[in-house]
Amino acid sequence: MSNPTITVIGSINVDMVTTTDVLPNQGETLVGREFHIKPGGKGANQAIAAARLGANVNMIGRVGQDKNGTDMLQVLKDENVSTSMVKTVANVNTGIANILLSNRDNRIIIVPGANDEVTPHFLKQFKKEIIQSDLVLIQFEIPLETILYCLDLCYENNIPIVVNPAPAKELPYDYWLKATYITPNETEAEQLFKGREKESALNNKLIITKGENGVSYYKNDELVNTPAYSVTPVDTTGAGDTFNGALCVALSEHKSLSAAIHFANAAAALSIQKFGAQGGMPTRSEVDSLLTE
Ligand code: RIB
Repeated sequence: MSNPTITVIGSINVDMVTTTDVLPNQGETLVGREFHIKPGGKGANQAIAAARLGANVNMIGRVGQDKNGTDMLQVLKDENVSTSMVKTVANVNTGIANILLSNRDNRIIIVPGANDEVTPHFLKQFKKEIIQSDLVLIQFEIPLETILYCLDLCYENNIPIVVNPAPAKELPYDYWLKATYITPNETEAEQLFKGREKESALNNKLIITKGENGVSYYKNDELVNTPAYSVTPVDTTGAGDTFNGALCVALSEHKSLSAAIHFANAAAALSIQKFGAQGGMPTRSEVDSLLTE
């Protein structure tokens, strides 16, 4: 059996990471510890997570005609992600994420730049490739109308689509139901789905990542909790992206939902033990050995 093909539609950023012991108040200047420039963007991170775990991965996205764009394209290529559907945009910067890392957790501000040019019009030229995928994965650092276009396209063509609503944006209710699975973190779940706990059509699609509290999901309307591995995190940036990439690999290999969540949970636990969103993303054998421990 050949490896599944996953198409990731989403953002490509350069992460500007400052580590600090204390976060500044409004109007305050503080001295931080370290500064690093790292590859990132939820789309690119998820694509690389899936590729390291053995899937054939197509990335659809955009970068600026600048050094950051050239560097990010090279990072994707080096990770065996197909970049034939990543195109440059003139006169726009590659996306940037300003990340403050403090107490092993992060606060992020993104400036989308070229990611805003991942429009439905841009995607239409890749319709054939999208509907030939075994599975599609999207996140929310691209325009809302593009997210709706992907959901319509996948739903109409029976292509499984995993929707990672990060950062949180409201969708018309019917669109949530077009997703195969929806993977918010706790904050996003609270923002988007609070008060809808009784709606089983929605609940049975939700997989909520809760950091050190594990992962919650519904199985036939029953709430199930998979505990997190007990590890000391170095950097949690990209843990959700690793989870999503790994979940999609397992689902596209037709693992059961609970096996896919265990697999993704193990991948996320490994990812937070190294610095940078992509730095700790594990290989297949690393995940398999953690699962057999
Ligand atoms: O999920 C982590 C990612 O969010 C970072 O790499 C940053 O680029 C932002 O998109």
